[in-house]
Amino acid sequence: MSELLLSAKNLTKRFGGLAAVNDVSVDLHRERIHAVIGPNGAGKSTLTNLLSGDLPPTSGRVTLNGSETAGKNPAHISRLGLGRSYQKTNIFRPFTVWDNVRLAAQSRERQSPWNPLRWLSDASAMRGVNQRCERAIELAGLNARAHTVAGTTSHGEQRQLEIAMTLATEPTVLLLDEPLAGMGQAEAESMVALLLKLKQAHAIMLVEHDMDAVFTLADRLTVMVNGQVIASGTPTEIRNDAGVQAAYLGEEH
Ligand SMILES: Nc1ncnc2c1ncn2[C@@H]1O[C@H](COP(=O)(O)OP(=O)(O)OP(=O)(O)O)[C@@H](O)[C@H]1O
Ligand SMILES: [Mg+2]
Repeated sequence: MSELLLSAKNLTKRFGGLAAVNDVSVDLHRERIHAVIGPNGAGKSTLTNLLSGDLPPTSGRVTLNGSETAGKNPAHISRLGLGRSYQKTNIFRPFTVWDNVRLAAQSRERQSPWNPLRWLSDASAMRGVNQRCERAIELAGLNARAHTVAGTTSHGEQRQLEIAMTLATEPTVLLLDEPLAGMGQAEAESMVALLLKLKQAHAIMLVEHDMDAVFTLADRLTVMVNGQVIASGTPTEIRNDAGVQAAYLGEEH
């Protein structure tokens, strides 16, 4: 079995009387894609937010690269190696692709204003930032668009840009919330190819409604309904699960 990078145990998130995530456990391994599927409102994005620190859990534990992270803030969790993308595209539209990625890369730098040699360390930090940007843009397949204004690129490229911004912080674990949403077939195919490439070096949690992509990519799946896990297993086990068929996959998939 490949290396376990993130382990969440018995996570629960209540919003008033609603248990949006109810006693959910999930393990993410390097070189594996773990898909989380389920109908609208199942709690998939809330689970992602609990793992990234965007929301504190009501109860439960998360271990990321050996550190306890449940309830820690997103910047802290990011520094421990977690990168995420959002369900709604989250870019600075008037800035170029490069500048978007550079801002993400710089978010990792810590500067001390009291260091008298700061200008030296600034220069070397900037070299590191630029190298990380180049790697992230290349990996996300955006070299030809690096100097294009982000808001003028295609929807598919904007989703690739979000992933490049995530990669610029050099995460080991990636949480991707509906990276294929709103894509046509050609865009979806290139995103699937990108995710397969990213899998070689990362542990990936993929939240997605596109079942063709999910069953192409996933090594394991967790199916959520109303905040709860109704099934977890390999693609074959999930496809043949009568409860999953009834609750989610149904006839059309
Ligand atoms: N901040 C919040 N405050 C109150 N309720 C919330 C909050 N965020 C999510 N919810 C509720 O929690 C439930 C789970 O929502 P969530 O967004 O996690 O679902 P989802 O599985 O991501 O759905 P979708 O497939 O539509 O993106 C929903 O009933 C939603 O209305
Ligand atoms: Mg969602």
